[in-house]
Amino acid sequence: MTQPVLRSIIVGLGCALPKRIVSNADLEKFLETSDAWIVQRTGIRQRHIAGEDERTSSLATQAARAALADAGVSAADIDLIIVATTTPDYTFPAVATQVQADLGNAAGVAFDLQAVCSGFVFALATADKFLASGSHRRALVIGADTLSRILDWQDRATCVLFGDGAGAIVLEAREGKGTSADRGVLTTHLRSDGRFRDKLYADGGPSSTGTSGRVRMQGREVFRLAVTMISDVVEAAFAATGTTPEDLDWFVPHQANSRIIDASAEKLAIAPRKVVKTVDLHGNTTAASIPLALNVARDDGRIKAGDLVMIEAMGGGFTWGAALIRW
Ligand code: ACO
Repeated sequence: MTQPVLRSIIVGLGCALPKRIVSNADLEKFLETSDAWIVQRTGIRQRHIAGEDERTSSLATQAARAALADAGVSAADIDLIIVATTTPDYTFPAVATQVQADLGNAAGVAFDLQAVCSGFVFALATADKFLASGSHRRALVIGADTLSRILDWQDRATCVLFGDGAGAIVLEAREGKGTSADRGVLTTHLRSDGRFRDKLYADGGPSSTGTSGRVRMQGREVFRLAVTMISDVVEAAFAATGTTPEDLDWFVPHQANSRIIDASAEKLAIAPRKVVKTVDLHGNTTAASIPLALNVARDDGRIKAGDLVMIEAMGGGFTWGAALIRW
């Protein structure tokens, strides 16, 4: 017997990208790398990089405004704002409270959440718990990062991979029947294992060096572990909802590397035509990559109301997670 439940429905979606586009050819000008190497190893062709006048909070606010307009609601209708980010404007206060102020929202609660590349999935899962409990009605979930600010631009093994951006969704609590035919977030699965810290980390922070540090990564190790971890949470989401890869309309993974995406889809028996890839356009935008990809696939007509959409991510920590959503 299924029970009526509160489901978190995506009613609005928006994004923001920095003005400046940096191509692989631009990187060749100051780095010993090549367009051919980057495209062959990662699928990335360009990324947007934030200028001095662009910050994580300004990109997040721009994406939030677009999502509110898309949903046809105003900032006053929002009672929860969660920003997933690893690159806040300041150590404190949170980017989310800055966004709240920029939007002119004084009624709700706003906080940041940090799970690096998995941040958007973690923030979505957190907002879903608030909405499903009935404590809050309408949430803005934002993934926003300017990782370019903490890259080592001399380290060709990391700096070519990342870009900046923000994506936002408006989630609204509505009653569902408690079956996988419901619209909204059907299930979420989050994991972490801090023993993998040294594979991907920043080598500084407020309490250690007093600086933000720079991104350090054992790329090959991350690659090796990513596919297994991603498959683990995606399979858990299928099992929890009694759905299969055949039922899926769209697979919208975190956009880290085209080869990780392809290998994960293949292991999970998800048909290539169902895989949404934007890594060529944006690079790895950390917490922003999934909502940016959702935005592209919704705007070009691929994702439609009623479609079954799987999102997943894996990142520093390690953290990893998946969510199954009926659009
Ligand atoms: N241009 C040219 N050559 C390069 C570059 C570059 N930008 N970067 C590294 N190389 C060289 C290396 O120095 C090495 O040279 P060597 O053989 O003379 O020593 C050679 O290329 C091979 O290096 P590897 O690191 O073994 O290359 P690999 O095939 O593993 O590709 C990459 C590297 C693309 C980083 C890959 O390991 C990867 O994508 N890993 C996943 C990392 C990732 O996506 N992290 C994002 C965050 S985590 C997440 O979101 C899942």
